[in-house]
Amino acid sequence: MIENSSITYRANILYIDDVPLPDIAAQQETPFYIYSLRRALDNLQRIRTAFAELKPHIHYSAKANANMALLRALIGAGAGIDAVSAGEIHRALKAGAAPEDIVFAGVGKTKAEIRYALEQGVGWFNVENVRECSIIDAEAARLRKRTRVALRLNPDIAADTHRHIATGHGKAKFGLTAEQVAELLKQQANFPSVDFAGIHVHIGSNLHSTDATHAALEKALELIAPYPHIRTVNIGGGLPVTYRADEQVPPFESFAETMTPLLKGYEVLLEPGRAIVADAGVLVTSVLYVKQQAGQRFVICDASMSELIRPALYDAHHEIVQMLPTVATDETVIVVGPVCETTDVLGQNVPLPPVKEGDVLAILTAGAYGMVMSSNYNQRPRPAEIVVNEDGKTWHVARRRETWDDMLRFEE
Ligand code: LLP
Repeated sequence: MIENSSITYRANILYIDDVPLPDIAAQQETPFYIYSLRRALDNLQRIRTAFAELKPHIHYSAKANANMALLRALIGAGAGIDAVSAGEIHRALKAGAAPEDIVFAGVGKTKAEIRYALEQGVGWFNVENVRECSIIDAEAARLRKRTRVALRLNPDIAADTHRHIATGHGKAKFGLTAEQVAELLKQQANFPSVDFAGIHVHIGSNLHSTDATHAALEKALELIAPYPHIRTVNIGGGLPVTYRADEQVPPFESFAETMTPLLKGYEVLLEPGRAIVADAGVLVTSVLYVKQQAGQRFVICDASMSELIRPALYDAHHEIVQMLPTVATDETVIVVGPVCETTDVLGQNVPLPPVKEGDVLAILTAGAYGMVMSSNYNQRPRPAEIVVNEDGKTWHVARRRETWDDMLRFEE
């Protein structure tokens, strides 16, 4: 099993920090998410340490997990926020972020969102098309403001990751081409209310090699080289996480080593999401039924693709383990949810000993892109989010489980 400093077995019991998971599972209806604040904060610190030479501003990418307790803790520990919608900006401000510590990214910002972000005074706009630049300029002028912009380059470089989360190849919708960036930089005078103060590049998420990152960064730096006053480089997110025990991913230090020599003397912004929260979170689920069918053993759980869509959407692997392991086994099962979709499979070939109705399972590394991508599909209430506090000993319900009536709230 993949263990870490916070999520680990002690005496054959799965613990989240110093709290035995069975204690919480006895009091909370499953499925629920549980997060270790300590692990999220440790991860923030691990990134800071790996990139120490560059002293980067870390803008936690709120899209990975926007739970308020997590946001408050990360902001309290000095993180800025990477937001991709006005909703995320609003949430970040409510969680205590200073507006100037928010970067506003996104391929399709609406005028209303741009206006809101300007009024609030966000620190940066990461701009992804030429027309957007004009709109920001016009709206800023109307508000008699001037704002900093980082032009997001699409470097036309393929990243080593799942095709659904690669963003920097030429065919992806993201960013500006190198030609467009070069042209915009030449035309700074035509955009008096925006300051082209930085360049942004993010080629994908969960990157499995550093080569493409290096190449993308070189391209970005080449574009700003003729403009010595542009001193800020935002290198996006993408730091990888281990989802399988037998998987090798480059450590944060490898990315830092690749980038540091290129970035000496620049102000550096980083937008990690997954690397901060993925391995701080677990989705806890109970076994409803076990059935043998077509030569396979199906373990039917009360969690589904409505709560965790990553396996269905990206063929993502999440380790599934027992909260109280019984015996080691060679037997593998299919772990599925109750949703009416063949793709509602949480794990294929999962090594689990015979489990029975009522047993509780833990779906690991589920803290990033889990709850935020959940839905009410099949009218399933979104699950509770439990947080184990920084002391590692106490925990609280950070967001209660939705009710059937909650799901009716917006209808007449
Ligand atoms: N910056 C930008 C511009 C991004 O597009 C993203 C992620 C991040 C930062 C944060 O990246 P991270 O550090 O988390 O790799 N739902 C997918 C992941 C989508 C990522 C979208 N962009 C998944 O579950 O794998």
